[in-house]
Amino acid sequence: MHILLMGPPGAGKGTQAAKLVEEFGVAHISTGDMFRAAVKNQTELGKRAQECMAAGKLVPDDVTIGIVKERLAQDDCKKGFILDGFPRTVEQAEALEKILKELDLALDCALNIDVPSAELVERAVGRRICKKCGATYNIKFKPPVKEGICDACGGELYQRADDSEATMKNRLAVYDEQTKPLIAFYKQNGLYKEVDGRQSMEAVYSDIIAALRG
Ligand code: AP5
Ligand code: MG
Ligand code: ZN
Repeated sequence: MHILLMGPPGAGKGTQAAKLVEEFGVAHISTGDMFRAAVKNQTELGKRAQECMAAGKLVPDDVTIGIVKERLAQDDCKKGFILDGFPRTVEQAEALEKILKELDLALDCALNIDVPSAELVERAVGRRICKKCGATYNIKFKPPVKEGICDACGGELYQRADDSEATMKNRLAVYDEQTKPLIAFYKQNGLYKEVDGRQSMEAVYSDIIAALRG
């Protein structure tokens, strides 16, 4: 499995990637998670990414392409991988083609989780994440049994810094302008597939499995 999950902020890329990883044991490469870890540890990369992320803007292409190139060369990616949140610009998509060619790999498909923007703000604002294990919840769509506590590990839940309504609106605008053109890019090279992301998380997952088989 060598796939990428595309879709606007809050579409469910991380949620679906977690399920696919559990089922297929492939590597999960989320550039957003990598940047958040770097910000938390205040590494050089984190210091560069922090301001862009807080404003809902993209981290510069050269920085992002560099970390993905390094990540794809690591051993665990030999079992297969799911790219989540990369590429996000045509320049990143072109760089990815080059990187994969060098590694003698090819993408199986580019899977877009389609959700209209009206629903996305609510999803992002309601998102909660476990500090300890990273599990994702939603106060409206997937509440934990006990408020503020992770069902899986008992860890404390937190809200992402960029999940405010104002920043989310910027992220959606950036998506429309810079990332949406990737739909045409992957349609053109024949790798594009789409699932309806407005359904339940379980229904989206079964559609993804069907799309990957089909
Ligand atoms: P990133 O972390 O990638 O954020 P994003 O693309 O905005 O996507 P999200 O993680 O917000 O949403 P998701 O699709 O994973 O949804 P989730 O499954 O969590 O990027 C963050 C920032 O990092 C960027 O703004 C940028 O600054 C930087 N960055 C990252 N990659 C970059 C790149 N390649 N280039 C440049 N900069 C980059 O679900 C959301 C919520 O909805 C959850 O609460 C979930 O429980 C709920 N939910 C999920 N599915 C459903 C469903 N079917 N029904 C109801 N609720 C659902
Ligand atoms: Mg995510
Ligand atoms: Zn947890």
